[in-house]
Amino acid sequence: MHAAGPRADIRPLLARLWADYTAQNPQAAQIRRLLEERGEAVVDDHIALRTFADPRVGIDVLARPFVDAGYARGDDYTFADKGLRARHYDPPTDDLPRLFVSELLLGPGTPCSAGSLATLRGLLDAIDAGRLDAAPLAALGRPWPALAWDTYERLRGESEYAAWLAAFGFRANHFTVAVHALRTLAGVAEVNALVEAAGIPLLRAGGVIKGGPADRLEQSSTLAAPTVVDFADGPRTIPGCYYEFARRYPGPDGRLFGGFVPRSADRIFESTDRR
Ligand code: NI
Repeated sequence: MHAAGPRADIRPLLARLWADYTAQNPQAAQIRRLLEERGEAVVDDHIALRTFADPRVGIDVLARPFVDAGYARGDDYTFADKGLRARHYDPPTDDLPRLFVSELLLGPGTPCSAGSLATLRGLLDAIDAGRLDAAPLAALGRPWPALAWDTYERLRGESEYAAWLAAFGFRANHFTVAVHALRTLAGVAEVNALVEAAGIPLLRAGGVIKGGPADRLEQSSTLAAPTVVDFADGPRTIPGCYYEFARRYPGPDGRLFGGFVPRSADRIFESTDRR
């Protein structure tokens, strides 16, 4: 028998990501409060992180504290039309959220022009290596200087994902409510109704509800909250983070499906698109 050493505790990092996420996206805290006021103990289904496919900051680096805490590598996914790849990790215990990490390709398959790739490499080169060693990358925030607005706009024209990541840096892109763990709401449609009644808009691209029982995963999400970001030439309001709702169904083995549905995830990436 392999005697495992003590595992790192991921909860402090999750708490830090949640605090930072809700400070910037108060809608998520508002929705969670609405659920708690109904007597729900909200369980996180998964959290999603974004990065660039670069050895300094790629999926493996971003996921390291989770792997150290006992998370196991799950499936890989590709989103060719957005130039992204992703991987999910399964938590060591059912009370912890799954992890979904995506990265923007900077080599073959990238949606970015040579000029934009030079911009993005410049951002990565501006990260102080000491900061990368000192704190988990997932909670680092934006470790490069503020972008010029026209740089953001140029990136956005090629990749909404690149523009979002360049503007916000490393943080939770979204947390996700485990709808299957709710007791007072039967499904995603009921959660959607609660959210819309509170005046919070949902992502409608691709239909409000993505997936279904046949996929064993049904999801919806808010539209990313308008967020003020300091650009080099002044503050602007752009889409920030969003909150997601996921209901998992059991498979033939009776266990809840633990993966992700690429077709649905592909549309949910668009929650942070500017409209
Ligand atoms: Ni998600």
